[in-house]
Amino acid sequence: MKFLLLQVCLLSICCHCFAQLPAPNYDENSIPPYTLPDPLLSKNGKKITSVKQWETGQRPYIRQLFEEHVYGKIPGKIKGQHFKLTETDSNALGGKAIRKQVNIYFTGSESGPYMKLILYLPKTGKKVPVFAGLNFKGNQTIDTDDGIAMARYWKNASTDIANADDSRGIRMERWPLEKIIGRGYGLATAHYYELEPDHKDGWKEGIRTTLKDALGIAADEWTAIGAWSWGLSRIQDYLETDTRIDASKTILIGHSRLGKTALWAGANDTRFAKVIANESGEGGAALSRRWYGETIAHLNTNFPHWFNGKYKTYNNNAAALPVDQHMLLALIAPRPLYVASAQEDQWADPRGEYLSAKHALPVYLLYKLPVTGLETMPGINQPVGKTVRYHIRDGKHDVTAYDWEQFLNFADETK
Ligand code: GCU
Repeated sequence: MKFLLLQVCLLSICCHCFAQLPAPNYDENSIPPYTLPDPLLSKNGKKITSVKQWETGQRPYIRQLFEEHVYGKIPGKIKGQHFKLTETDSNALGGKAIRKQVNIYFTGSESGPYMKLILYLPKTGKKVPVFAGLNFKGNQTIDTDDGIAMARYWKNASTDIANADDSRGIRMERWPLEKIIGRGYGLATAHYYELEPDHKDGWKEGIRTTLKDALGIAADEWTAIGAWSWGLSRIQDYLETDTRIDASKTILIGHSRLGKTALWAGANDTRFAKVIANESGEGGAALSRRWYGETIAHLNTNFPHWFNGKYKTYNNNAAALPVDQHMLLALIAPRPLYVASAQEDQWADPRGEYLSAKHALPVYLLYKLPVTGLETMPGINQPVGKTVRYHIRDGKHDVTAYDWEQFLNFADETK
């Protein structure tokens, strides 16, 4: 009898597990039908037909829905925030670039929380647009130069390197500095851990705790993705003060979880002129209602700190969400948007990322912007679309030279 009870118990625990975390689906033919919410249908069931209605009513309403159901709140900056230039190297990258390192102090005090920003600029007399994004493993990983200040969290949860110096330059391929500089752009990046370490207890050390009083917001009112997004806006605050930079043209870029972050930052902070979300997947560009690859339940189980409490109620029930991710993409309108996928990154649901971009187009059309090219999903390595661009390249989940080539072309062509 006892044995039987134990078996029943184990079975129900297991069923519970499965109910919480179904195996990912990778079969197009097994996707149950779904209906996407219409970004242009107001809360009262009225069709939005003008930019004015969109900007004054519908856009703020949809942004608010994402805040409430998905990503949590986003506070403003703190009075007293200031910047300290800690290094200028006028001969970086073998003389091709200027490198600056700046501490962004989030409060009036230097003993308070801060973030280390690294900036590369071409040596031109003109103000340049900058690509801005967070990095995964520290600023020292984007180039081998030992003048780059070491990240405070160089040994983070996703870094299996034994000593700090071994991490120098390990992510150079993801940040092709010479190419970016050569094309006339700058690059600004900071380590996302400096805002909040990326694990379920990271909030205790991160700005959701250390800036709780200064920002007047409790840790559980926002999320890790919110904290990282907030940091992107603080980078833009700095860029606006640098006379060598055209900060009205900042191109926000993020990969994977940091692609989700870039989209949320771009939705909240319209100072970002263009947004690139590379392989941002579930909770990023990919449609949640499409049951393919990662699901909301996977996200919430593996990364409970990324999204808010309410989002957990949509585990295995995406249909109940008042939004889907095409509406997040629509919040970027009318600004140019690039959604990028990789063929071997099925976990991120490339087709769901493409469809999301396509279903954001009605909002771009309100602005009468050219949006052709996304009618059908393109083949491998064929970027399509004008204001909203999409590609699926061959290969795995990563940021490659191919991706950067397309992002630079996009930046040039959407000036
Ligand atoms: C995991 C996670 C994804 C995320 C990715 C990343 O694979 O499930 O949602 O985008 O990590 O950030 O690398």
